[in-house]
Amino acid sequence: MVNSRPRIILSAAVSIDGKIATKNRDSILVGINTVKIDDPLLTVRYAKGKNPIRVILDSSGRISVKSKIIKTCHTIPTIIVVSKKIPQKNLVKLGKNPLQVIIAGKNKIDIKKLLQILQKQNIKSILLEGGGTLNWEFIHKGLVDELIITITPYVIGGKDAVTLVEGDGFSKITNSAKLTLHNIIRQKNEIVLHYYI
Ligand SMILES: NC(=O)c1ccc[n+]([C@@H]2O[C@H](COP(=O)([O-])OP(=O)(O)OC[C@H]3O[C@@H](n4cnc5c(N)ncnc54)[C@H](OP(=O)(O)O)[C@@H]3O)[C@@H](O)[C@H]2O)c1
Repeated sequence: MVNSRPRIILSAAVSIDGKIATKNRDSILVGINTVKIDDPLLTVRYAKGKNPIRVILDSSGRISVKSKIIKTCHTIPTIIVVSKKIPQKNLVKLGKNPLQVIIAGKNKIDIKKLLQILQKQNIKSILLEGGGTLNWEFIHKGLVDELIITITPYVIGGKDAVTLVEGDGFSKITNSAKLTLHNIIRQKNEIVLHYYI
């Protein structure tokens, strides 16, 4: 069967109590909020291999030119996804850099449309690195195929700390995606859980 979209693997490190950041948002480790807060490089560091294409969902083009993503986009392929609401000045700012801008959606980024575009660019799989807002968007639209969750030995607490999945949440447990546990790996003090949906 020909896939109509890339395979999506949600990957995150969570504390025992399901948080992916503290309330101050200094987190273990991409929607634009994650870029703004963590300024991640999003490269392969602990394994050999070429860097994956980095895709940032940033409707208004708020990404800073000082971010590591923009500073390294001349060497690491980078896609910034915006919506039609992006201010012209931000579009011009992005256009000065050697990166690809994809416009998908009117106000909010239309994720299904974006996935079709990425599929046409021959992107076959995507590692979804959150945060919680973006994770919810993909999960409640039924767009996640696998989850790789690393449980780290911390208890963070706090009602304002970002959890693995934010958004509105499902009103009934039966509406939740059904996960099948595929593998468990113990890495010293951490556990990596690999689920299929
Ligand atoms: N522990 C981990 O593994 C891990 C991994 C990643 C992140 N984090 C943490 O997660 C926190 C950030 O999470 P977050 O939930 O605040 O934000 P997020 O998911 O990183 O980003 C959400 C933003 O993405 C943009 N976006 C664009 N299109 C969207 C769409 N269709 N649906 C939803 N969002 C869309 C929106 O901003 P615009 O409207 O401006 O486009 C939205 O506010 C950070 O503290 C970070 O440290 C932890």
